[in-house]
Amino acid sequence: MKGIHSIFLACFLVSAFACFLASAFDPSPLQDFCVAIDDPKAGVFVNGKFCKDPKLAVADDFFFSRLNKPGNTNNRVGSNVTTVNVDQIPGLNTLGISLVRIDYAPYGENPPHTHPRGTV
Ligand SMILES: *[C@@H]1O[C@H](CO)[C@@H](O)[C@H](O)[C@H]1NC(C)=O
Repeated sequence: MKGIHSIFLACFLVSAFACFLASAFDPSPLQDFCVAIDDPKAGVFVNGKFCKDPKLAVADDFFFSRLNKPGNTNNRVGSNVTTVNVDQIPGLNTLGISLVRIDYAPYGENPPHTHPRGTV
């Protein structure tokens, strides 16, 4: 009986160690926010965008107001996707956050698609 307990303990330790080796995650952001701008002379390049000087960030850098408006679903798939990502809200840059509003016509569908890297 003692030998079985030792085998279970050994298996548990080996699997716990394997889980420890296999863990993966995106690194935590190095700063609270990085408001994206397109001017290469204006700041530091992070996550495919340049960061605005944090002292110049304003509330509008974190605001988007069109999600209350339905998209036109009069198209081939009968749906309309309104995306909200760093291109609409520059303050989302590096935060790993994006969202969409999807409007469906009756019998509309969301065609198969992918989400590479999860967010943009
Ligand atoms: C989605 O709706 C918007 C707003 O009505 C429209 O400008 C856009 O062309 C629509 N997109 C598609 C794919 O139908």
